Amino acid sequence: MTKTTQIKPPLDVIPSNIYSAQDYEYFSGHFIAPATLAYIAGGSGEDVTLNSNRNAFAALAIYPRLFSDLSSASTQTSILKQVFEHPILLSPVAHQGLVHNSAELGTARGAAATNTCMIASTLSSVTLEQIATQSRQYWFQLYFQSSEARSALLVQRAIDAGYQSIVVTVDGAIQAPSARALRANFHFPSTLKAANLSDEDASNTDESVDIFSTFANHSHQVDQLKNLINHSPIPVIVKGVMHPQDAKALQELGAAAIIVSNHGGRTVDGAPASLGVLTQIRAAVGEQYPLLFDGGIRSGTDIFKAIALGADAVLIGRLQVYALAVAGALGVGHMIKLLRQELELCMAQAGCASITDIQACVLHHIRGDHRC
Ligand SMILES: Cc1cc2nc3c(=O)[nH]c(=O)nc-3n(C[C@H](O)[C@H](O)[C@H](O)COP(=O)(O)O)c2cc1C
Repeated sequence: MTKTTQIKPPLDVIPSNIYSAQDYEYFSGHFIAPATLAYIAGGSGEDVTLNSNRNAFAALAIYPRLFSDLSSASTQTSILKQVFEHPILLSPVAHQGLVHNSAELGTARGAAATNTCMIASTLSSVTLEQIATQSRQYWFQLYFQSSEARSALLVQRAIDAGYQSIVVTVDGAIQAPSARALRANFHFPSTLKAANLSDEDASNTDESVDIFSTFANHSHQVDQLKNLINHSPIPVIVKGVMHPQDAKALQELGAAAIIVSNHGGRTVDGAPASLGVLTQIRAAVGEQYPLLFDGGIRSGTDIFKAIALGADAVLIGRLQVYALAVAGALGVGHMIKLLRQELELCMAQAGCASITDIQACVLHHIRGDHRC
């Protein structure tokens, strides 16, 4: 897109020319200013891991199957005793006020309308209490704050507002700058606030810092995490796990679940694709342990592949922001509906009548390594 392209205001109807969930990504450039889009779409460094996240899906194919009984097919699943109509959750994504006036309230409405669990970021543009008023299934994502007391305050607010789980993101400790965002000269607008935080805490927290980034010692966070796990009345889930040994250690620490994620390619540039480590991590934590996944999902077939490799459910990051930018709450709801339809179609064609039917042997590994 050229610099002279006009950025359109968000639509107040579902766009008639969007046919797949990924179309929201293709259309987002018409609705998001180029520098802001570079910040959202980019990964860290030169996008090596960002690209790996997508390429990993392309290396897998799905076996079409014949003669399956789909008369009672369903996408229903349950995680940590919560029943979900489908295995699609919304990843925590900071600063949604960058793309739409309704910010996370629009996302929450789109999620609630499609019975989707939203994970609200610590760095939301509106408060966690406001998000809760629009939500039905909702978890709170915590970045540890500069003191344990400040973190505890956020957790207590989330519990009081009815959040059903706490998701602690542990991979944001050292955030690498995005070359794409730097080249586009992206800066956070001074009017954009992290509504849950005081100004002091906001300036100490990843994602809100200048994209040249800060480096700090976050090794003490394991003690905070242990404390939180031991005292929280709601499940504590850990997001940002990429190594089987870390997964095992967190399981032993008492995390209720973990989320395999490389922050959408925004941490180490050169980290493996998150899909690439899923099988190993599933093997490390065992069949029964709740395992979620994100990174690079753009379609229902991507969701199917991640579940086949061991995820119980998946999270959607950038697509929710693109849909919000294009058509607010309607866009978010429509994007999720499309993803769910794409997943259902794929399940039907692959002969899977339930989420648990989606096993590794439904996949054909294009570059060898046949499992079935
Ligand atoms: C613009 C942006 C902001 C993000 N903010 C957060 C955040 O506040 N907390 C968090 O845990 N992850 C954050 N993430 C990472 C997402 O939760 C998720 O892991 C990632 O976007 C998944 O990859 P995908 O975008 O390819 O779906 C952010 C990602 C993006 C692109």
